Amino acid sequence: MKTLKSSRIKTTLLSGMFCCFSGFITAQSSTTLEVDASKTVAEIAPTMYGIFFEDINFAADGGLYAELIKNRSFEFDNPLMGWDQPNSDRHSYNKESGIAVPVKYSKQQNNHNFIRVEVKDANGYKLINKGYRGIGIHKDEHYRLSFLASKKSGEISQIHFKLLDEAGKLIGSSSVSLSSGNWKKYQTKLTASTTVEKAGLEITFSGQGEIDLDMISMFPENTWNNRENGMREDLVQLLADMNPGFLRFPGGCIVEGRTLAERYQWKKTVGPVVGREILINRWNTEFSHRLTPDYYQSFGIGFFEYFRLAEDIGATPLPILSCGIACQFNTGELVPMDQLDPYVQDALDLIEFANGSVDTPWGKVRADMGHPESFDLKYIGVGNEQWGPDYIERYKVFNDAIKKQYPDIIIVSGSGPFPEGDYFEYGMEQLNKLGAEIIDEHYYKSPEWFRENADRYDSYNRNGPKIFAGEYAAQSVAIASPQNENNWECALSEAAFMTGLERNADVVQLTSYAPLMAHTEAWQWTPDLIWFDNLSSYGTPNYYVQKMFATNRGSDLLKVSANGEKLIGQNELYASAVKEASTSEIIVKVVNTASIAKTINFNIKGVNIGKKADQIVLTSDDLGAVNSIDKPKNIAPVTKNISVNKGVELAPYSVNVIKLRIEK
Ligand code: AHR
Repeated sequence: MKTLKSSRIKTTLLSGMFCCFSGFITAQSSTTLEVDASKTVAEIAPTMYGIFFEDINFAADGGLYAELIKNRSFEFDNPLMGWDQPNSDRHSYNKESGIAVPVKYSKQQNNHNFIRVEVKDANGYKLINKGYRGIGIHKDEHYRLSFLASKKSGEISQIHFKLLDEAGKLIGSSSVSLSSGNWKKYQTKLTASTTVEKAGLEITFSGQGEIDLDMISMFPENTWNNRENGMREDLVQLLADMNPGFLRFPGGCIVEGRTLAERYQWKKTVGPVVGREILINRWNTEFSHRLTPDYYQSFGIGFFEYFRLAEDIGATPLPILSCGIACQFNTGELVPMDQLDPYVQDALDLIEFANGSVDTPWGKVRADMGHPESFDLKYIGVGNEQWGPDYIERYKVFNDAIKKQYPDIIIVSGSGPFPEGDYFEYGMEQLNKLGAEIIDEHYYKSPEWFRENADRYDSYNRNGPKIFAGEYAAQSVAIASPQNENNWECALSEAAFMTGLERNADVVQLTSYAPLMAHTEAWQWTPDLIWFDNLSSYGTPNYYVQKMFATNRGSDLLKVSANGEKLIGQNELYASAVKEASTSEIIVKVVNTASIAKTINFNIKGVNIGKKADQIVLTSDDLGAVNSIDKPKNIAPVTKNISVNKGVELAPYSVNVIKLRIEK
């Protein structure tokens, strides 16, 4: 079985004696954790553990966004991508069926295309959409179907919708009578008789003639909070269960775009859904080994929906905007400094959109979308993962303009894609000099790196900028390797590192794993925190680590040590401690990266603790173990009620949250 490479921390420092009995190794050593509860080192920011959301791996379209029809408005570069016409042939007159062709609107800026269907023989013509890697259908669920139609010529009287399983068997249907020669929205409902992972929607007609169709859309009735333009309930629930302190959106490199023209422009993502102009997703062809040519952004989840999601799950919204530099891993296109104004204006207008009164132009847009109350935006990010002097020059302009108009808004800047090296050092030095408030650091590193860097922030300037560990994940093979797995070694190592984040909560104020979500058949980047298919979803071991930390964040940081030293890998143990004032608890997180069990005792200074405690344990004896759709809880936390008198046992390879009760 795989064992962990020993870390640079001397594993013998506190180690005791180990005995072997018939192949089992039993721990004989015990470590005493001294927790000083007599004083608070720092208050822990409510934003400490949050969520990083990016539409990568079908996370939004094909995932969180509950829309089931791919290319619903025929706007992909190939307007009929995702739509099959099995009985039609472009090179024939199609007398026994019919054919649909894309037509361009002449005057509509955002909605470019619709289709014109010519039905010659209604018995033969079919138009089929198979969704995003199939349409996930649940038994007894109701599906809201809507479409825009305009009768052109002939006598098409009805349109029929059928849900078909993988074998073509009917599992739900509905028909709509067509009335108008002008564009009109029609709606109907279908009920599914069975659960199918990869269903298709078949469209047929009664009568002959020509009809124009657009925006053919289908959502389950059960979405998060039952919203019509809704989100998948199971996925939002997984996010809500994390008790996230913030929601960062919309990315990631998607903010920057491969070119400036492909950057994320929030203003194009608000207002009526039908008017949101789609855009190619930058992850569409990013990796030649994971090409996803059918990946576009419908912006059905736009900035309004992101803000509302943050509100729903109790997270502080943290939007990140383009700073006028396209992704530097791609073109790195720059907006000339004298043309930066529209970009800066986007940031100012976004603050008005989120917080402005309904009498302001952008506040009114928010109100018209159904949210007159402010979204209480406090943070804004300038650029995603930019580096070099071009970034610093642009950051200064944003900083000055935002602070002039909105002095209370906290600006998040970035130190580039790597946690060390030239780019990083230059960015950190400049941002420190400029008095940056929060700097976003990214690290996609080996599990060993995470274990070895639990002390990363111990030496940071306590009076300098605060840190946002904005994107991190242990890579089991190499950065963005398609072979990477969300295995137990990675999760355990991240947990070890996170004790270091928590021990430095006076400096580190926001942290998030990245990327967040991936479709099991349509991903570009692995590892990811949450995986899903068309029907179900699961949290990885890494997800449970995040959840254990975030749901036990605590209010006050306490000092914890063993033999007078912080625990950063000695005896293969890592630890942090907090107090939760509202529940009168001391919460100690201890990670045991050893292949053997350990025992710890507590010496708590300043308060009395009860004999009983709760111990939440996440463990596996297999470092290569993973969760999956079939075994979603292969590795999942278990809570035990324990007595702390005789010491607390830490299982081999385990993450432990121990909740001690403060006695009056
Ligand atoms: O999380 C995946 C990508 O990694 C993000 O889009 C980017 O910011 C980073 O390089």
